[in-house]
Amino acid sequence: MKPIRVGLLGMGTVGSGTVRVLERNASEITRRAGRAIRITLIADRDVEKAKRLAGNVPVTNDAFQVVSNPEIDIVVELIGGTTVAKDLVLKAIGNGKHVVTANKALLALYGNEIFEAAQDAGVIVAFEAAVAGGIPIIKALREGLTANRIEWIAGIINGTSNYILSEMREKGVSFEDALKDAQALGYAEADPTFDIEGIDAAHKLTLMASIAFGIPTQFSKAYTEGITKLTREDIAYAEELGYRIKLLGITKRVEKGIELRVHPTLIPAKRLIANVEGVMNAILVKGDAVGATLYYGAGAGSEPTASAVVADLVDVTRMHTADPEHRVPHLAFQPDALSDVEILPISEVETAYYLRMRAYDKPGVLAEVTRILADLEISIDAMVQKEPHEGQELVDIIMLTHRTVEKHIDCAISKIEMLPVISGSVKKIRLEELNRN
Ligand code: HSE
Repeated sequence: MKPIRVGLLGMGTVGSGTVRVLERNASEITRRAGRAIRITLIADRDVEKAKRLAGNVPVTNDAFQVVSNPEIDIVVELIGGTTVAKDLVLKAIGNGKHVVTANKALLALYGNEIFEAAQDAGVIVAFEAAVAGGIPIIKALREGLTANRIEWIAGIINGTSNYILSEMREKGVSFEDALKDAQALGYAEADPTFDIEGIDAAHKLTLMASIAFGIPTQFSKAYTEGITKLTREDIAYAEELGYRIKLLGITKRVEKGIELRVHPTLIPAKRLIANVEGVMNAILVKGDAVGATLYYGAGAGSEPTASAVVADLVDVTRMHTADPEHRVPHLAFQPDALSDVEILPISEVETAYYLRMRAYDKPGVLAEVTRILADLEISIDAMVQKEPHEGQELVDIIMLTHRTVEKHIDCAISKIEMLPVISGSVKKIRLEELNRN
């Protein structure tokens, strides 16, 4: 059978990895796919550099030439961003080409429009590489766990922020120094704001929530809080209490709707996922039948991400001749069976909390604070008072609460901050036990 022909947009880290993996493993891949997968045209702004990496494959600087080329069956979009990439993907779909993309921002923001266009055109849009690099989490959620009612997902899905938090905890380095290191090592997005402010994680979480619960992509409703305000003190206090702080993407089905949130989270240090360090990613998925499952691996990098791109290429090669109605739906559920269940605002989310406050060390302080919490029916799970810093009359008090609704803890915090015995603001970090329930 003739090879399937692929046009590659973007010969950067992942593009060059894709070329290498396809070439190195060509015979295994052909045996799996049933026919050869051949890159026949590459587009990149830097034609000379791309040519050096491309072997004999022709290179153009005009990506639109690739998506309009009648000789191409599948377009691999590795350009990133949500402007030109969106035009290119829609154009490719309009021209009847299947698309493989690693572009999480594009799908989180415009997934509904793109999948609808693909549905109308009868083509596949595959995006394994968009979430957690080399970890086949899309495949697991969409196919492997298809018998289950997914209850929740909690994942470390941004390697850069996980690297920063690991460095801060293990080496006691500052946030800024750890970020510089991560950038030098090539982990960070072009704009590191996406990594450290939780936006990249929220893109990935949006996609996982859609395929876990069968809902449209709703990035604008995701609550997103990054790691820039975390201090070494909070990381150390959490550790003393038996917890690690991780930037987690959490999505959960609860009675009132669906939670969709990215924020720093205390998790028990003894959980496997708490021990995922450095740039690695890990995702916990709880299904009603299977229980808790954990997926771990490289969430970024040239060949790990290429591994996901090539897996999608093999899938498309096997599936493209199948009747579109008999393929696995883009969002795992049939498009006319998506649910309009509400995404809950963060004020309605229920979780436990770490609170750190700075108080004057005199009698009655704790009584005043605990009274406020008790009045709002917030129960305290653990409490530590630190020694005052030398020559100072202020002490740090750390409290862990039991689960409560966020609007109640926020109300308590504003009352605590008004107490004359409390100095400055109260630091709040959410806490999840991530046990099997
Ligand atoms: N910048 C991302 C991360 C890599 O740090 O995880 C790819 O999504």
